[in-house]
Amino acid sequence: MRVGVLVSGEGSNLQALLDKLHGKGEVEVVAVGSSTEGARGLERAHAAGVEAQAFPYAEIGGREARDLAMGDWLEEREVELLVLAGFMEVLSPAFVRRFAGRMINVHPSLLPAFPGVRAIEQAIEYGVRVTGVTVHFVEEAVDTGPIVLQRSLELPYPAGIAEVETQLHRIEHELLPRAVLLFARDRVKVVEGSRRVEVDDAGD
Ligand code: GRF
Repeated sequence: MRVGVLVSGEGSNLQALLDKLHGKGEVEVVAVGSSTEGARGLERAHAAGVEAQAFPYAEIGGREARDLAMGDWLEEREVELLVLAGFMEVLSPAFVRRFAGRMINVHPSLLPAFPGVRAIEQAIEYGVRVTGVTVHFVEEAVDTGPIVLQRSLELPYPAGIAEVETQLHRIEHELLPRAVLLFARDRVKVVEGSRRVEVDDAGD
């Protein structure tokens, strides 16, 4: 399966996909797009020999023009699944429609709790004792969309942001590659007429 990845910064989730799946037979990361020029994720892509390009919207004529150009660039590379891995900008409705049903995101909370930015801080400030990671389909509204996989993490109390972040990242780096592999194996199906996702992850 040909996978595209969108990043904005560090790209540690991209790295997990490259290390665990890329070039091992079932998954090829074929394109990495970034919202910013300086994203470390772009360097990680180059180091793995994957085509990568920055698409800063301010320089491309605004968000819609940028999303159109970025969508064309991804389609030219025949991306079958698009992964938002720390892409920190809202995508235009046209872009979301274009990749509907084949675009997923990883978010550091148990959605629908704590959507949006600063999810980890929101959870700590709220005082929840359990948080976690969600991989979900992308819809127009931010951090909604049918849920593919989730994993929980019990929070220490009081919870320190750095420690929780490290632990959540560790979970993300397992859960996201797992979800992508399940897509590659055609084991993920949205149940028609519902928001539920059938995930067949038995046996491997
Ligand atoms: C992750 O915590 C992800 O859940 C969120 O943005 C962060 C990206 O981290 N959407 P990285 O760039 O993959 O290191």
